[in-house]
Amino acid sequence: MRLEGKVAVVTGAASGMGKSIAELYAKEGAKVVLADLNVEGLQQVVEEITSNRGGTAKAVKVNVSEAADIENMIDTAVNEYGTLDILVNNAGIMDGFEPVGDITDEKWDLLFDVNTKGVMRAMRKAIPIFLEKESGVIINTASTGGFSGAHAGATYGASKHAVIGLTKNTGFMYAKKGIRCNAIAPGSVETNIGSSMLNINQFGMERAGLTHAVSPRIGKPEELAKAALFLASDESSFVNGTVITVDGGWTAAF
Ligand SMILES: NC(=O)c1ccc[n+]([C@@H]2O[C@H](COP(=O)([O-])OP(=O)(O)OC[C@H]3O[C@@H](n4cnc5c(N)ncnc54)[C@H](O)[C@@H]3O)[C@@H](O)[C@H]2O)c1
Repeated sequence: MRLEGKVAVVTGAASGMGKSIAELYAKEGAKVVLADLNVEGLQQVVEEITSNRGGTAKAVKVNVSEAADIENMIDTAVNEYGTLDILVNNAGIMDGFEPVGDITDEKWDLLFDVNTKGVMRAMRKAIPIFLEKESGVIINTASTGGFSGAHAGATYGASKHAVIGLTKNTGFMYAKKGIRCNAIAPGSVETNIGSSMLNINQFGMERAGLTHAVSPRIGKPEELAKAALFLASDESSFVNGTVITVDGGWTAAF
């Protein structure tokens, strides 16, 4: 098993890619803390991991935009399983494809609180634990919208560009401290992310649709989880401060 004895925290673990990552990590021997707003969804995933597959997992209700919830999430890993080895910041929400002329302050703040500030806070909380043992891995789910201007609205794109900036800086800063930090940039993946797309902006969606039309296919969450397993395991020991694009070749077109 590739993560035997490791302790992992995965946010957004009730659905989509977070669920697949948590399940795969548990299958590979990790003890996993699953964090999400969706308690019912979390319980189903924990039940699947523990009862049906004999893995070790615990659910924690977490709103990643709340500082106290982030503290509690990391503390739960340490209190339950003794430490933290792997942090996967995966929870995220979409905008409604709004171009900058149509952004509201409320939506901007919400997306940045969830997609970006939550990631920073979880990393900030994990770093002292990693520094003390000179070992730790961080994986942030960014997006191809984190380097393309044409895949979503301005707010989502900016929030994910920021996640890539945070990832690179963190990988660089702690490179000699035994800590690695990388991002995954998924292309279009079959998940429930559509439920977070509210009040779709027709103009923005049409513009973004031009590039979505050349995406070769929609990926499956399990295909992303395999990249997250590689980045969490020692197989990626020399991979740090970078972004792995997992998009079936979509952005190769640009
Ligand atoms: N699906 C795609 O095409 C795609 C493409 C690129 C990037 N992403 C990114 O992948 C990540 C995972 O999304 P997904 O596609 O699996 O979507 P999903 O909606 O299936 O899963 C996201 C999970 O995050 C949880 N979540 C949302 N807000 C939260 C909050 N404030 N606190 C805690 N949990 C919260 C949701 O309850 C949900 O369980 C996101 O960061 C998303 O931006 C998705």
